[in-house]
Amino acid sequence: MGTVMIIDHPLVKHKISLLRDENTGTRDFRILVEEISMLMGYEALRDLPTELATVKSPVAESSQPMLAGKKLAIVPILRAGLGMVNGLLSLVPSAKVGHIGVYRDEETHEPHEYFCKLPDNIDERLAILPDPMLATGGSAIYAVDFLKSKGCKAIKFMCIIAAPEGLEALKKAHPDIDIYVGCVDEKLNDKAYIVPGLGDAGDRIFGTK
Ligand code: PRP
Ligand code: URA
Repeated sequence: MGTVMIIDHPLVKHKISLLRDENTGTRDFRILVEEISMLMGYEALRDLPTELATVKSPVAESSQPMLAGKKLAIVPILRAGLGMVNGLLSLVPSAKVGHIGVYRDEETHEPHEYFCKLPDNIDERLAILPDPMLATGGSAIYAVDFLKSKGCKAIKFMCIIAAPEGLEALKKAHPDIDIYVGCVDEKLNDKAYIVPGLGDAGDRIFGTK
């Protein structure tokens, strides 16, 4: 069984509040998304395995924990998930990066795939799947379906803001994955936007409309 972790940290809360502000411009929005992703990644990677290695300090030689070299893949859901990649890479610079391109149809809210490329040996990797927004859950469910169809067995989904509806849908569709959420908001509106949310994450990261 997977777990759901709501990141309960004052720094994350403060930065999410700044993200929501409609007066936060593209530059600051990007920086905040990156910072939040790094803080969330710190929690999401808490169970990475370590192994003992010999380290010689200027004083003495000893056995010390080092990352066990678990293979990682960061696989953002395009476009908005791209904004979370650098924050995660700052924690694990040697991780491979894949891409899952899906956009949500404005009328039906159904996900549509347009570009997917994964690193080699995805079946042996822990996949971190970032997307700032989990609204209906359609995009995240599609992305996890895709990863699983390629043999991926260990998946952690990360989002900055989730709607209760999307979180329930993702848990129901994929009860085995771990889910990390910055904040669970109130609801979806009739256009399937998260309320209060932050608007369209992709548009705010890339300065489009
Ligand atoms: C946004 C967001 C998620 C999706 C969430 O992407 O980044 O991928 O919507 O909605 P859902 O849970 O109802 O599927 P969007 O489709 O707007 O594409 P973009 O990132 O290219 O802007
Ligand atoms: N996608 C977004 O970017 N924002 C929402 O509120 C819902 C879906």
